[in-house]
Amino acid sequence: MNITDPITILLSIILCLFVAFLFYGRKNKRNIYHNFPPGPKPLPFIGNMLIFNTKKPYETFKQLSQKYGSVFTIHIGEEKMVVLTGYETVKDALVNHADEFSERAKVPLFHDILKGHGVVFSHGENWKVMRRFTLSTLRDFGMGRKTIENRISEESDCLVKHINSYKGKPFDNNMIINAAVANIIVSILIGHRFDYEDAKLLRLMKIINENMKLAGSPMSLLYNTYPTVMRWFPGFYKTVANNVEEMQRFISETFTARKKQLDVNDQRSLIDTFLVKQQEEKPGPELYFTNENLKVLVGDLFVAGMETTSTTLRWGLLLMMKYPEIQRKVQNEIENIIGSSEPQVIHRKDMPYTDAVIHEIQRFGNIVPNNLPHATTQDVTFRGYFLPKGTQVIPLLTSVLYDENHFEKPEEFYPEHFLDASGNFVKNEAFIPFSVGKRSCAGETLAKMELFMFFTRLLQKFTFQAPPGAELDITPVIGLTWSPKSHMICAMPRT
Ligand code: HEM
Repeated sequence: MNITDPITILLSIILCLFVAFLFYGRKNKRNIYHNFPPGPKPLPFIGNMLIFNTKKPYETFKQLSQKYGSVFTIHIGEEKMVVLTGYETVKDALVNHADEFSERAKVPLFHDILKGHGVVFSHGENWKVMRRFTLSTLRDFGMGRKTIENRISEESDCLVKHINSYKGKPFDNNMIINAAVANIIVSILIGHRFDYEDAKLLRLMKIINENMKLAGSPMSLLYNTYPTVMRWFPGFYKTVANNVEEMQRFISETFTARKKQLDVNDQRSLIDTFLVKQQEEKPGPELYFTNENLKVLVGDLFVAGMETTSTTLRWGLLLMMKYPEIQRKVQNEIENIIGSSEPQVIHRKDMPYTDAVIHEIQRFGNIVPNNLPHATTQDVTFRGYFLPKGTQVIPLLTSVLYDENHFEKPEEFYPEHFLDASGNFVKNEAFIPFSVGKRSCAGETLAKMELFMFFTRLLQKFTFQAPPGAELDITPVIGLTWSPKSHMICAMPRT
């Protein structure tokens, strides 16, 4: 080899740079991560994937926290994640260090499709602006107030009518409950409701359900672990992306039509309010009220507002079928306090048992078990460990909702977790199904109102029971959210 040959020289330089980069990179990594939380030793390329109980991931987390404490590290592929377990630790991070833990981790699948727009998977200043807008607009359109209470009451009537049409025969309640709940958020987003048979609504719910399943599937884990490799196998990504694109097309068509009729003095929906803000926004290097943010934000709220609340309601009905004596007690309280009039939020304070049952449905149902992934906004020292800016953090909600130090019988459905000896409702600080802190659920007030109103109306009108001979299985389907397995129910009208 001629060492004066220009190609050899060039190759030697590249090789030196590569070695230097490897050495420097590793050295730097060692410096950054020298006081990182402990955890199981990762294998090259796959990290700790082999130790996971895929059917019961929480069992693995539980064992790891027993061994390493309430702050530990796991490796998914090459990615490090810090897991926080137990009420005290999760609260310490999300409430006492609220700013430091308020960033959303960049999950490759969502980031590739949504590009950081909207609110749920957005970051930095864009997230702050979109979150502020979301909270204030949801409030303006009646979240937590009489306007929305009336809307939910009307929708409950439609739901009851629809369920009545089955005349006590078995049916699958998935799409119907989805549709009733979807209509509440849709009325805020676009200003009208859909019929339960509306082809557009059915299609939107179908693609959302499909994406929720895909996002919680092993393919999604694979994509998020090896995004660079997985981009070469576009099948899975394409299905998820096409579904999102279809939903966004519908949203774009809706707001393009609204743009033409927009009246600043008569804003009828969140889309109208966004479009007004868009007109008012001053030109500058950073624009927030863009069409991209509008499309993703409306999609975020539609998905977050429908899927979670309807899944919780379906858990509620399934658990009532499983525990008929609890269902009976709720119905007795409804008879005593509401009678045959329409349930209203104001009744809740006089219904401690029903309130406790709804809380227990949310605790036991544990529908967002892993929370959404957070990240640190800056370098932070937490409980003696150093977490550099950008560290992925999982504040594990299961470990809080099933925390033995806060719930007497965490593995059981036990409404007494929220009752004192005299039957009064008691709060429990570890009840955080909506998470806590700066990133906590933006629709909590709306969801709580929907759960109380729909649940009481349904139990006022029907007794729910399993079809004759059917087994009731309350093991969850593991996905992005944990939902009941597909099942049939019988709604027996109450006279
Ligand atoms: C039972 C119903 C619901 C449950 C259990 C639930 C739970 C959650 C959880 C655990 C998070 C993640 C919090 C975190 O990152 O720390 C979240 C985020 C969010 N939820 Fe909900 N949610 C529910 C209903 C709703 C509804 C009805 C809406 C819409 C109006 C909504 C809108 C959102 C939004 C926008 C976020 C993202 C917040 C952010 O990143 O700043 N949710 N929710």
